[in-house]
Amino acid sequence: MIDDIRKLIQQAAETARRETSDEPEPQFTGDVKYPVECQVGKGLEGAIATDTKVGYVNGAKGWLVYRGYDCFDLAEHSTFEETTYLLFEGKLPTRRDMDAFEEQLRGHRQVPEAVLDVLRRVPIDKTHPMSALRTAVSVLGNLDPDAEDTSPAKEKRIAVQLVAQFPTLVAAIARLREGKPVVAPRTDLGHAENFLYMMTGADPDPALAKVMDIMLILHADHGMNASTFTTMVVNSSLSDLYGSVTAGVASLKGPLHGGANEKVLYDLEEIGDAGNVPAWFARARETKRKINGFGHRVYKAYDPRARILGPIAKLITDRDPGTRKLYEVAVQLDHLVTSELGQEKKIFPNVDFYSGLVYRAMGIETAMFTPIFAVARVPGWTARALEYLADNRIFRPRAIYTGPVSERYLEIDRR
Ligand code: ACO
Repeated sequence: MIDDIRKLIQQAAETARRETSDEPEPQFTGDVKYPVECQVGKGLEGAIATDTKVGYVNGAKGWLVYRGYDCFDLAEHSTFEETTYLLFEGKLPTRRDMDAFEEQLRGHRQVPEAVLDVLRRVPIDKTHPMSALRTAVSVLGNLDPDAEDTSPAKEKRIAVQLVAQFPTLVAAIARLREGKPVVAPRTDLGHAENFLYMMTGADPDPALAKVMDIMLILHADHGMNASTFTTMVVNSSLSDLYGSVTAGVASLKGPLHGGANEKVLYDLEEIGDAGNVPAWFARARETKRKINGFGHRVYKAYDPRARILGPIAKLITDRDPGTRKLYEVAVQLDHLVTSELGQEKKIFPNVDFYSGLVYRAMGIETAMFTPIFAVARVPGWTARALEYLADNRIFRPRAIYTGPVSERYLEIDRR
C-alpha cells in the first residue's frame, strides 16, 4: 500500500501541474517595503500583515510550498519530523541534524501527570475535544517554570516540546472519551506511529502510520489562516507561547476553519447514499447553505491537499465497506459542487473535505478529527510566531467606526 500511496501522490502532482495555471502572484511574493499598498476586504481579505519565509500558498495556481518545497514533494518523500525541522530551521536537515531533532522530539513526548489529572476531571465525553485540548495546553503552560520567558531560545524549546506533546494530549483525550486508560508514549516509534499507538494501545499497521504521517505533513502549515494569525497576534503582545497556541487551538476549532472536517462527515452521513446527493445539493443551494469542506479564502483552484487526500481516501476506504459508501457520497458531492460552483464561484474541495474519511477509515471518532489537525498544525503556528517574534511589532489593525460620535450623556432616571 505504501508504494500505491507514493504513486497516487505523483499522479496528483502531475494533475495539479497540468490543470492549474502558472499565474505569478507579484502582490504576494518578492521583496517587501513597508508600508505596503493592498486592497483590504472584510475579514482582512487581501491584507498583508507581515512578510515570511516559512511558507507560501499560491491560491490561483493551487500550490502549497513550505520553505521552497512543494507539498507534493514533501508528502511523497518527507516525514512529519523532517517537515517540522524544515519549517523551524528553513532548510532540510542533514542525517546528524535529523537524528538530534528526532531525539529531542522523542524526549519531550511525556506530559506531566497533573495535565492528565485535569483532563480526567473535565466532563471529557460532554465537552468538545478541542475545548479539552485548549484547557490541556493552557495547563501545560501553568506547569512550565519557563512559560513566562519569551526569549527566542526559550520559545523555540517550548515550540519543539509542544510539537512532541500534542499527540500525547490528543491521544489521552481520545482514550478518556472512550473510558479507556491513557497510553504512555513510546520512544522507539516515529511521531505518526507513536500517535496511532497511543490512540489505539496497539502497534500500528505501517501503512496506516504512513497515511497518518502524510496527513500530518499536509496540515503542517498554511499561510496566514485564522488559527495561525490568532497565534501570531497573541504572541506579538509578548504573551507566552502556551497562551498563543491555546488561542490557536480555540481558533482552529471553528467550523469555518479546522472544525469543518468533522462537519463534513456529519453531512456525508446525513446524505447517506450517493443517489441522494443531487437532491441534498439542490436543497443546500436553495437555502444558501455553505457546504462544509468546500471553498477557501485563498484557493481559487482545487486545493492541492485535497488532490492528494481524495485518492488516499479512496485507497483506504477500499478496505472498509462502511466508509466506502461515505466515500462514494463524497465523490458524487465533489463532482456536483465542482461542476456547478467551480467555474462560477471558484468553489472546490478544501483540505477538510476528504481528511475525515481517511480518519474514519482508520477507526477514529469523528469529534477527534479537528484535534488531529491541531497535532499537525503546531509547527506552522509556532514557526511563524517565532519568525515574527524575531522582528516583533504588535498586531494592531483599526476598524472603521460607523456609530454616532456626539451623543450626550443622560442620567439614568432621565432616559
Ligand atoms: N458552499 C457554497 N458556497 C460557498 C461556499 C461553500 N462552502 N464557500 C463560499 N461560497 C460562496 C459564498 O456563498 C459566496 O457567494 P456569493 O458571492 O454569491 O455571496 C462566495 O462563495 C464567496 O464566499 P465567502 O463566504 O465570501 O468566502 P470567504 O472567503 O469569506 O469564506 C470559507 C471562506 C469560510 C472557507 C467558506 O468558503 C466556507 O464557509 N466554507 C465552508 C466551511 C469550510 O469548509 N471551512 C474550511 C476551510 S479550510 C480550513 O480552514 C482548514
